[in-house]
Amino acid sequence: MTVTIKVNGVEHRVEEGLSLLEALRRLGYYVPSLCYDDRLSPQGSCRLCVVEVNGRLTTSCTTKVQDGMEVRTDSEQVNQVRRDVLRLLAMNYPRDAYAKYPFKEFHVALSKYGVELQGTSRPDLIDNSHPYIVVDMNRCIKCFRCVKACDEVQGYHVWRAWGRGGRIMIRPDGPDLAHSSCVSCGLCVDACPTGALEDRSVLTYGWPDTWVKTTCPYCGVGCELEVGVKDGRIVDVRPSRTSVVNRGNLCVKGRYAWDYVYSQDRVLRPLIKVDGEWREVSWDEAISFVASRLKEILAKYGPGSVGVLVGARVTNEEEYLAGKFARVVLGTNNVDSCARVCHEPSAQGLEDMLGTGGATNTFEDIDLARTIMVVGSNTTENHPVIGNRIKMLAEQGRVKLIVVDPRRTEIAEYADYHLALRPGTDVVLFNAMANVIVSEGLIDEEFVSERVEGLEEFKEVVSNYTPEFAEKVTGVRADVIREAARLYATNKPSMIFWGLGATEHVQGTEIIYQLIDLALITGNVGRPGSGLMPLRGKNNVQGTAIMGDHPKKLPGAVPLTQNIEMFEKLWGTKLNPSPGLDGIEMVEAAMRDDLKALIVFGEDVLMSHPYMEMTEKALSKLELLVLVDMFHNETSKYAHVFLPAASSFEKEGTFTNAERRVQRVRKVIEPLGESLPDWQIIIRLANAMGYGDYFRYSSPEDVWNEIRSAWPAVYGITYGRLEREGGLPYPTPRLDAPPVKVLHVGQFTVGKKTRLRPVAYIPSPEQPTEEYPLTLITGRTLYHFNMGSMTRRTGNQVIEPEDFIEVSEGDAKALGISDGDVVRVTSRWGSTLIRARVSRRVSKGVVFATVHHPEALINRVVSPAVDRISHIPEYKVTAVRVEKAS
Ligand code: SF4
Ligand code: SF4
Ligand code: FES
Repeated sequence: MTVTIKVNGVEHRVEEGLSLLEALRRLGYYVPSLCYDDRLSPQGSCRLCVVEVNGRLTTSCTTKVQDGMEVRTDSEQVNQVRRDVLRLLAMNYPRDAYAKYPFKEFHVALSKYGVELQGTSRPDLIDNSHPYIVVDMNRCIKCFRCVKACDEVQGYHVWRAWGRGGRIMIRPDGPDLAHSSCVSCGLCVDACPTGALEDRSVLTYGWPDTWVKTTCPYCGVGCELEVGVKDGRIVDVRPSRTSVVNRGNLCVKGRYAWDYVYSQDRVLRPLIKVDGEWREVSWDEAISFVASRLKEILAKYGPGSVGVLVGARVTNEEEYLAGKFARVVLGTNNVDSCARVCHEPSAQGLEDMLGTGGATNTFEDIDLARTIMVVGSNTTENHPVIGNRIKMLAEQGRVKLIVVDPRRTEIAEYADYHLALRPGTDVVLFNAMANVIVSEGLIDEEFVSERVEGLEEFKEVVSNYTPEFAEKVTGVRADVIREAARLYATNKPSMIFWGLGATEHVQGTEIIYQLIDLALITGNVGRPGSGLMPLRGKNNVQGTAIMGDHPKKLPGAVPLTQNIEMFEKLWGTKLNPSPGLDGIEMVEAAMRDDLKALIVFGEDVLMSHPYMEMTEKALSKLELLVLVDMFHNETSKYAHVFLPAASSFEKEGTFTNAERRVQRVRKVIEPLGESLPDWQIIIRLANAMGYGDYFRYSSPEDVWNEIRSAWPAVYGITYGRLEREGGLPYPTPRLDAPPVKVLHVGQFTVGKKTRLRPVAYIPSPEQPTEEYPLTLITGRTLYHFNMGSMTRRTGNQVIEPEDFIEVSEGDAKALGISDGDVVRVTSRWGSTLIRARVSRRVSKGVVFATVHHPEALINRVVSPAVDRISHIPEYKVTAVRVEKAS
């Protein structure tokens, strides 16, 4: 709907419901503002956006457009008010501030209205404590945008107004910003119109000359970044204001943790290990060395002896090429991705039951859900932009929140029901929730009769799991299980989000079946605001799952046994039809001397796999281990060749985020040193192996177009369309049609009906014993990402310099452990030293350790037990003992 307004005598039609300020800006009129930010609720306090409406002065940011409005944006009366506002603010504003940053919103307005600055700077108002943000309160004009940004979007309430009237001061909730509750998202900096809050990088390197939009290299949210470049160097990152994914917001990783690109220890030339020492070589030498070793090994042991592992750091196009390289050049299906150690159960579970191994809905549906259940996801730390969105909806009472997690995470503090189950008892808990839904008649009968099969068998299995039985096993009170189940089933639409706390179990895939079962019996699939959302870990795990880096699946998740002919035709060669080994099996095969060569793109196998002692032995037996990466890592100790890869800021391509959205990765700077994008490295290797004709691509777009021709779900997504429309979720099968955002509407990908998969509980092999009385969970923190190879090389390392283990107050007291003590953690599999945090986040009997630093390397301790369906290791349950280190 539109309305007609007249502006400075000219008639315009504008969208109904817009603020007058937004409408005027969209029409191209200059209206200055200070307290307004389109990400925040309007305040109407600075009065700079004043305009005349039907002859009366009004603040345009707080006025909605109305039909027939007559508006003047530049009358003398308007200009006089604006000048008065600016003069008042300029009285105490430092004179020298303008010259440095003429483009800041406040400074642009000063210049436009010819207002001179009067004030001087006081050094005591400058706070230099924070690694990323410089606070200069000399330049604060009390617009409160920082306060509102932190309050309304992030929910951390760091900035507070102290004092009254003209003596009001904005200060953080600690002695300085570094010692406040700030989580370094940078939103307040982005909102500040003067530079009172400024990025240290900009102050160090200067304001960017150009901005390039790209996608965050960290988590599966896939936030869009604006990357600022000056003289060919990255100097700043800001959130994209137009992104539907992150809506002008970022977390500390996307916003600030980009400096690893320039880390002194980045590998910038190819290396070959000679007599235990790395020697720099030319690309030609490195590539021909790898090719000749691969040829020898293939000739001697056959294609089953080689494997390829692909981390989700790389683009879709590179993942596709890595899989194609394994199959076409090496003749093996021994190809897998890091999804094996994070979300393979999610892809497998969703595919088995619904037919598409991805989220059923998009992030946009968060606003439509009435109940959200978060399972095994420390969302505000691991997927912060989405976590904070859910948290704020819960805080504002706009959504009911159930959190299933043994830890009292930040998001659990906002939950209506926190189901703090004993680690490893998820199956019992979800069966008990299903038991309540069945026994209390809360099943969506209509949905189930139309679209679901196997209800009777399902009812029979869950009938054994009463809430009272579940209370005994899980430790969650029966009445809480009942109430949470009722809420999920009745306060619809309900969405389920999950993280690795759901998948990294010996019944990981079955737990996902259970979540899908719950959604099916309550009719929470195929509807806006409902559905199933695996919060994928790395930026492009969703891509790896679907680009063919899988021992049993070709690109598009086509089973090897199905449509192999199509790929034989497309790639012009016969393919090996025997399923290959997955990542876990490849390590086992190396241990047995069956795997001889491994190429790893962007993954630290040694640090990320469980039971490190075995992984170490396995890797040391390989005859050829090739790493393609930016930095040496723990796996490098056993590698023979290191090929330096470009970062995602140095190449073109696409990533696919957790909501199936394909987004562009754009080249921001030239690759540093001699590093190359992985796609070019794969092509060079293919050429050297004599398969160049199969890899004739001149750009990532060429590769993407081949993917489009192989996989109908992305046929409608072209680079041109991504440029024009922004990221598009798949399936988008047609060029002239929008993407399908809600999957399984009316029918599932597997057909009209799907079958429930009831799951019986099998206790984890890692039960506490007298010798190992505690249960260890491992996971991530806000400041570091997975094995930390990128974040450890940024200012995040200053904020959080080492791994830690959380120990409950009760256990700490019993064990004589104080906060900050170094403790020894020992399991049946290994032992390590790590610093203790005495914490209320974990219950008695449970400890939680982070996984980011090689010094602690908690995977020395983690059990090698794996899920029998997907082979994901059970990182979330290991029986351990913890002792104060002497
Ligand atoms: S950086 Fe983020 S968390 Fe910190 S004060 Fe600013 S808005 Fe709040
Ligand atoms: S939430 Fe994820 S994608 Fe967004 S900025 Fe943070 S790490 Fe990057
Ligand atoms: S921008 Fe409208 S009153 Fe401040």
